[in-house]
Amino acid sequence: MSLSQIARSISPSPTLALNEKAAILREKGDPVIHLGGGEPKSRAPMDAIMAAVSHLNSGEIRYAPADGIPALKQAIIRYTEEHYNRKVSPLHVMASGGTKQAIMVALQAVLNPQEEVIFPAPYWVSYPEMVKLCGGIPVPVLPEDGSFYPTLRDIEQRVSSYTKAVIINSPNNPTGAMYSRDFISDIVEFCESRGIYLIMDDIYHKLLFDDRKFINCYEFAKDLSENSKLLVVNGVSKAYAMPGFRIGWAVGSKKLIEAMTNIQGHQTSGPSIILQKAAAGALTGIQSCVENLRITLENNRNVMIDHLRSFEGVKVSVPDGTFYTFADFSTYEKNSRKLSDFLIEKVQVLTMPGSEFGLDGFLRLSYCGSLKDIRDGIERMKWALDLNSPNELYIGDRKLVRDWS
Ligand SMILES: Cc1ncc(COP(=O)(O)O)c(C=O)c1O
Repeated sequence: MSLSQIARSISPSPTLALNEKAAILREKGDPVIHLGGGEPKSRAPMDAIMAAVSHLNSGEIRYAPADGIPALKQAIIRYTEEHYNRKVSPLHVMASGGTKQAIMVALQAVLNPQEEVIFPAPYWVSYPEMVKLCGGIPVPVLPEDGSFYPTLRDIEQRVSSYTKAVIINSPNNPTGAMYSRDFISDIVEFCESRGIYLIMDDIYHKLLFDDRKFINCYEFAKDLSENSKLLVVNGVSKAYAMPGFRIGWAVGSKKLIEAMTNIQGHQTSGPSIILQKAAAGALTGIQSCVENLRITLENNRNVMIDHLRSFEGVKVSVPDGTFYTFADFSTYEKNSRKLSDFLIEKVQVLTMPGSEFGLDGFLRLSYCGSLKDIRDGIERMKWALDLNSPNELYIGDRKLVRDWS
């Protein structure tokens, strides 16, 4: 079959593939533990459900404006004022089919073929593929000091005349690292002074631990006129536990938002009106669900880190936020894909290979599931990898016998 060069250059989403694998194994009756997931297990807020149901009941399910319905845009404007202390108008806001689509459309709006987009590594799996989909070149940057915390120097060294945009995701998927105030301030000033687009992917900004306070990029922007190249993206998938609703948004200059809206209008006509109503319901409704989720995740993180620390040979750093930890398993196996396959095959624990995020030898382990899954999952992994553990392991009434060394 003759597919386009771009289609041939794009890999499938490894996160979605892992979810499918989990579903297939569960259907077969395998006692799977999914530590690779990227979605909170709590229920969507009642305000979101009620808003969607009420609109469905009207029976009038029409096209919506390509940039979003007024109720959702107003909710995003209020959100921006409350969390970023920044007043914007509806012309600065576009609602989208998930944060993913907001980023994708932004890249389509700014990138010419061969232009480069820089982002710190480890990175969210979709950034390189999205850049490639636009004909651009992804430029992942691993911090020189071997940490998960980039410096401006790391980024600066990779800037070329082709650099069109930088994407920053803090706290970060997959490491959980929240970048320092100095770094955010430096990168905002740097991009502004060089005329480079800066996309702040703030999707995890409410899921911070140990009393950390979110760092607001607008504080450091000198130029917030219509020439600003700063774009903030966010969504309801993580903090409001609404990934299946597929609603995200972007806030930026009128010109950029207008260009993005034109693109989105032809692509999808914008997200479904029912789901937009639900997102508006979540953003304007009772907010305690977000803090409850954050507290649960902080507790889950502590349990996961405790268990990993007692796992000989594994190096782990404490996540500042999100619901992921990125642990170094290279003493056991340097090829993280091989290791992840091994763990599925031998003990039915699903993990995400670090290579998918730009750093081999690591596994991304999620703690958005139950405490039991976290404890049992790590115990199974220990049993599979630590050859000093007993030769047998019981999972329910299934007996596993080690047949590898
Ligand atoms: C860093 C990051 N950005 C964006 C997204 C996409 O979120 P959404 O569900 O809003 O499209 C994800 C989802 O995993 C993510 O981890």
